[in-house]
Amino acid sequence: MLSIGFLLLAATASVYGVAVDRRATCATGQTVKNAACCALFPVLEDIQENMFEDDSCGDAAHAALRVAFHDAIGWSDNRDIGTGADGSIFIFGETELTYDANLGVADAFNLEVPFIKKHNISVADFIQFAATVSLTRCPGILQPPFMMGRIDAKAPAPEGTVPEPFQSVQTILARMADAGLSAAETVALLASHSIAGADNVDPTREGFPFDSTPSVFDTQFFVETQLRGTLFPGSSGNQGEVMSPIAGEIRLQSDHLFARDTATNCLWQANVNNQAHMAQSFQSAFAKMSVLGQFNLIDCSDVIPTPPPLPAANARSVFPPGIAHSNVEQACATTAFPNLPTAPGAALTVPQIIQAEGTEGACDDDGDGCAISSPNF
Ligand code: HEM
Repeated sequence: MLSIGFLLLAATASVYGVAVDRRATCATGQTVKNAACCALFPVLEDIQENMFEDDSCGDAAHAALRVAFHDAIGWSDNRDIGTGADGSIFIFGETELTYDANLGVADAFNLEVPFIKKHNISVADFIQFAATVSLTRCPGILQPPFMMGRIDAKAPAPEGTVPEPFQSVQTILARMADAGLSAAETVALLASHSIAGADNVDPTREGFPFDSTPSVFDTQFFVETQLRGTLFPGSSGNQGEVMSPIAGEIRLQSDHLFARDTATNCLWQANVNNQAHMAQSFQSAFAKMSVLGQFNLIDCSDVIPTPPPLPAANARSVFPPGIAHSNVEQACATTAFPNLPTAPGAALTVPQIIQAEGTEGACDDDGDGCAISSPNF
């Protein structure tokens, strides 16, 4: 059991309209605005050292980010379907991990559940905390905020809340709108696919990245999804996959359509060569997503580590080697696709994302789901 553990609480009273300033020094030495946030430091230290280990924005970080979305999106502004970012994806893993849309979430279950069991924190908070910390391992991210105090689920989310890569833009936007997220926020959130890949879309191989820089939160994802597709990195004929422009890289049909649909194409293109826009819009959309369906939370943003800076080489969008403006499938009708330089060198083959050991374990994608109560975790 964690102790809230703080040594000192300095309070400036709210007299004559002066704002209250309460600062606490935690037993672990850090200073926070709200003493309750001290409970997160031992969790932070443990997951940084033992869960993410030397994974710098790699497979473990990607898995932690994806599950946070799949948990939170089990929310509706219009129907009583659950409590959003409520941990239901793990608490009711025997149900939710049988849904097709959650294929691959077993990786996050294997990674996180042993740590959830070690710490006295709600499952719901842990999932969003781990995702927030995972983001700070990715160069190019702006420091994400973190709110604490989510209440754990009493029931599973029903099937159908998580968007699928073979759905139309309209279907996905309607689902996101039902959860309270606009088209602009959906595109902002899809910047997450800049630090992501697919293990299950092509059944022949794991770790196909969605862009050429899957460990950097940069704008290349938005450039590369706008290029004419020419190849499949592995097998063909997979549901939810279309051709990509670069060997080794996989393209989801949904990302392809978002880049081209009139409802979203200009929002998509706005991220090209605009790191500040991509990072800021993602930061606010992610903050909104991570508290869907949850209320009365405490701001523990001061627990979140500072992300590494974006390397200078990733600051500007480029066309990958051998690719030029003529390969762009211009979709936005009001603004021309920016003129970008072509990176020097031979045509790329993007390497596979190396699978993190921690994502392997007793939970697998056999369609039976996984029980958090199992002693195997
Ligand atoms: C809204 C429409 C979305 C669709 C249709 C979609 C679909 C997918 C699919 C099919 C995969 C590959 C899964 C696999 O093969 O293992 C994937 C991976 C991923 N997605 Fe999404 N996604 C969407 C939105 C999001 C959002 C909003 C986030 C986060 C905020 C997110 C984060 C990720 C991450 C990090 C991965 C990589 C997971 C890993 O490597 O373990 N996605 N997505």
